[in-house]
Amino acid sequence: MLSFIFNKIHFLHYRYFDIKSFYYKKLLLSCGYSFKLWGNCYIKNPNKIIIGNNVSINDNCYLNGLGEIQIGNNVSLSANSMLISTGLNIDTFKIKKEHINKKITIGNNVQVGAGAIILSGVTVNDNVIIGAGSVVIKDIESNCIVVGNPARVLRKI
Ligand SMILES: CC(C)(COP(=O)(O)OP(=O)(O)OC[C@H]1O[C@@H](n2cnc3c(N)ncnc32)[C@H](O)[C@@H]1OP(=O)(O)O)[C@@H](O)C(=O)NCCC(=O)NCCS
Repeated sequence: MLSFIFNKIHFLHYRYFDIKSFYYKKLLLSCGYSFKLWGNCYIKNPNKIIIGNNVSINDNCYLNGLGEIQIGNNVSLSANSMLISTGLNIDTFKIKKEHINKKITIGNNVQVGAGAIILSGVTVNDNVIIGAGSVVIKDIESNCIVVGNPARVLRKI
């Protein structure tokens, strides 16, 4: 009996994520079909973010679109990954909170591994897997797996 009730609650919990996906779809600059958003994600400045078709954003992801973010089709952001299109100006951060914003572009067929971080100004081209925990600080060519901090090509695919 208890497991029946818990299963019902669990089912409702998934419906909550559908509502959250719908809510963000309305806030994003544009968003394609089959958009899925799971768990406790947070999207800052969604009005500067473009998302393609069949994109899923998993638990605890953080996206900051201040410098703009563009995500292609068939992209998965695994749990705890982050796309941060802004940063404090390192020359002036002691006196004022001036931000430097640069666009992040993610191509088609990209998997961003769990806990990976993609920083401002980076372009990730098509057909790329970014290993768990990687920190991507510069552009990634297409058709490859990258790993590490800073992320480097592990092999072509
Ligand atoms: C990147 C990845 C796809 C590589 O898988 P793989 O090709 O099977 O790689 P291997 O396990 O054979 O490792 C190859 C080398 O890369 C290194 N490596 C693999 N993944 C790494 C990672 N995430 N960070 C740093 N180094 C990594 C290994 O240490 C190994 O190095 P070595 O040759 O010096 O020993 C995989 O490790 C990964 O990170 N997948 C993402 C998983 C994830 O986030 N899942 C959640 C969503 S489903």
